[in-house]
Amino acid sequence: MEVIILPDSDAAAGLVANVIADAVRAKPNLVLGLATGRTMERLYTRLVRLHTEDGVSFANVHTFNLDEYVGLPAEDKHSYRHYMNEHLFDQVDVDLANTHLPNGVADEIDTECADYERRISDCGGIDLQILGIGNTGHIGFNEPLSAMYSRTRAKALTPQTIAQNSPLFDNPEDMPRRAITMGVGTILDARRCILLATGEAKAGIIAEAVEGPVTSMISASAMQLHPKCTVIIDESAATKLKQHEYYRWLFENEPEWESYR
Ligand code: GLP
Repeated sequence: MEVIILPDSDAAAGLVANVIADAVRAKPNLVLGLATGRTMERLYTRLVRLHTEDGVSFANVHTFNLDEYVGLPAEDKHSYRHYMNEHLFDQVDVDLANTHLPNGVADEIDTECADYERRISDCGGIDLQILGIGNTGHIGFNEPLSAMYSRTRAKALTPQTIAQNSPLFDNPEDMPRRAITMGVGTILDARRCILLATGEAKAGIIAEAVEGPVTSMISASAMQLHPKCTVIIDESAATKLKQHEYYRWLFENEPEWESYR
């Protein structure tokens, strides 16, 4: 795992967008794993700009989102399908048929989850998975005690997650209590992962996930086991990290990041 600290949330989202753009240029049929949440809105604004101003094309890209609420159809404005169409898919040249999210209103949830795993492997696996982090340390909706080997399945949401996300609903009471999410094992199978987190509210959980022990109590700590995971954060989310001087040095000196400085 490596950590990159940038001055603010715009710079952090901009770096993630540039890494995605380079990955798409290098492999036009990239299989891209995507995330939702407020943090990602800045990232998608940047990606749309890279498409409209710099001609980055998503025409042959396949996308797989981490999760979807159980019980919300695609048309529901609170669904993650609606979020993705609005913030990214409708504004770039991706083929909607190549964009995948779990179906939250599937008759048979277990069958839908197994099918989602099959669709990922039929595409050759995820090349680059983008992750956010919830206050419980979840990636996707892998709440505490999610097994490190877990695959796509329905998961009950914690009270903290309901408190974090329900303000996004017109009526907070309407927020579903369950979601379909890729498992921690599904995420660990991606060839490369980038976790983006910004803001002081994330400082505590980032320190636990990055520098604390690997534990199923904090699913994001599983990323310490991943062979190629970059955590990209802003200064406010970095305040509780012990090794921040080292992380700053890495970005300034490692050849891999030269073209992004
Ligand atoms: C939801 C998603 C997570 C995401 C989290 C962060 O819970 N399921 O994948 O990481 O939101 O949300 P925010 O960026 O709004 O803090």
